[in-house]
Amino acid sequence: MEQKLKDEVEARKTFAIISHPDAGKTTITEQLLLFGGAIRQAGTVKGKKTGKFATSDWMEIEKQRGISVTSSVMQFEYQGKKINILDTPGHEDFSEDTYRTLMAVDSAVMVIDSGKGIEPQTKKLFQVCRMRGIPIFTFINKLDRDGKEPLELLEELEEVLKIDSYPMNWPIGMGRGLLGLYDNYNKRIEIHHPDINGINGEKIVELNAEGKIEGDHPIKKSSLYDQALDDIELLNEAGNDFSEEKIINGQLTPVFFGSALTNFGVQTFLDTFLNFAPSPSSHKDISGNKVPATNDEFSGFIFKIQANMNPAHRDRIAFIRICSGEFERGMDVTLARTKKKIKLSNSTQFMAESREMVQRAVAGDIIGLYDTGNFQIGDTIFEGKKCVEFEKLPQFTPEIFMKVSAKNVMKQKSFHKGVQQLVQEGAIQLYKTFHTEDYILGAVGQLQFEVFQYRMLHEYKSEVIMTPIGNKIARWIKPEQLDTSMSSSRNLLVRDRFDQPLFLFENQFAMHWFADKYPNVELTSLL
Ligand code: G4P
Repeated sequence: MEQKLKDEVEARKTFAIISHPDAGKTTITEQLLLFGGAIRQAGTVKGKKTGKFATSDWMEIEKQRGISVTSSVMQFEYQGKKINILDTPGHEDFSEDTYRTLMAVDSAVMVIDSGKGIEPQTKKLFQVCRMRGIPIFTFINKLDRDGKEPLELLEELEEVLKIDSYPMNWPIGMGRGLLGLYDNYNKRIEIHHPDINGINGEKIVELNAEGKIEGDHPIKKSSLYDQALDDIELLNEAGNDFSEEKIINGQLTPVFFGSALTNFGVQTFLDTFLNFAPSPSSHKDISGNKVPATNDEFSGFIFKIQANMNPAHRDRIAFIRICSGEFERGMDVTLARTKKKIKLSNSTQFMAESREMVQRAVAGDIIGLYDTGNFQIGDTIFEGKKCVEFEKLPQFTPEIFMKVSAKNVMKQKSFHKGVQQLVQEGAIQLYKTFHTEDYILGAVGQLQFEVFQYRMLHEYKSEVIMTPIGNKIARWIKPEQLDTSMSSSRNLLVRDRFDQPLFLFENQFAMHWFADKYPNVELTSLL
């Protein structure tokens, strides 16, 4: 690859922001977009109050509920870097899309509410990042409010998420008493509200070699300053050492404190984050070999397909993560699954406030291709003669289930077609009961069912009846170990779409009871 192109790839930073709802992901995203000059005012991303939807007004359901059903992509420039943020809905109704988006990023920013600590959705998303071994940067938000003690929050990271942490900065007070941030990494103090409390309008105070403020300074009068120094000393002695290698391997998370709403500590976070966040490097193919981002030839994989972006045209957009080389509009590629040649002429890129036709993009970027039914989730496309096929995207164990059937028995054909296509697309999981072959749908979030129902009606003209069968614990079993008499009233025996048998257990108790009764039967989950 030419040096110029290598530099372009090196300038890419592609990451996702993960959090539990209300931790402040949207607020922080907006601050980042403001720094990059990509939006002019806050409130553009979600637009809950203004009624303006910037990036994700694609589906009627999204509009009705004011949430982002599928992860959106935003690109902007900041200090010579091209930043791609992939949004993962933190809403509790999130779906497998949310998880798969994390397959397309090189690092993740985890936003935590300082008052609440680690919440369930953060934990789930964190686990997917961990499985991929990508670097995770932590931003502990809402420091302008009274929250948990900073040391307690670090302990939670280590105990709940089992990840080592390194505080890059440390709060001096919090809530109304927030005086500043002790920037342990840059050896300086960022003063909060520089124009009040008589702190002479200065924002940054450099520290001396001992890590203290030289001479007189109003902040030194506060016991909170002494407390922060004590904490830092304790952490320097007893805490984890800073290690860039461990950060890159996802074993150590650098922790930043701040307040997204009052824009305090956010820019320092962004600057430091961009220093350490990896640029695109390589992706593994199905044989486990690495395909470097700097390969001359273009390659990429589809991590999401979104239909109905424009209902008038019934279009579908396949989202591609470019893994190597350069994309040019109109180029010819091969689809690895079918070996079919495809011309990529109709493509789009996602800027903060709009979608634009993209002429050119490089490794690390995300592009959208208009799809007429060629693509499936997980597909690889590549340029040139040498076949590239990236490793399969993981499947996630569904947690909630519905029985589904066509309302109008005369319309079985469109019902089956719709179900097959949506399942292939990866929108939802399909199971069939063992003897009666009833259709059961499985999802990781309730919203997947709503999207399914909506799309069946609008795209396949098939009205469906969905009957909830509630939360279940899905466990696969080896076909040779299966005896249909193992099925009881506490579990439902079904087949997945690859004909593999699995039990849907009513609850943990039912599963443990089963495991005790059949100790030699191995039960496995996906991810
Ligand atoms: P999310 O995308 O993670 O769901 O969170 P979002 O940014 O929408 O923030 C959730 C709520 O928390 C919002 O208030 C937002 O203003 C507030 N918030 C975000 N960051 C901070 C912070 O640093 N400090 C404080 N005190 N609050 C913060 P809301 O009133 O629920 O929503 P909205 O009506 O303002 O959209």
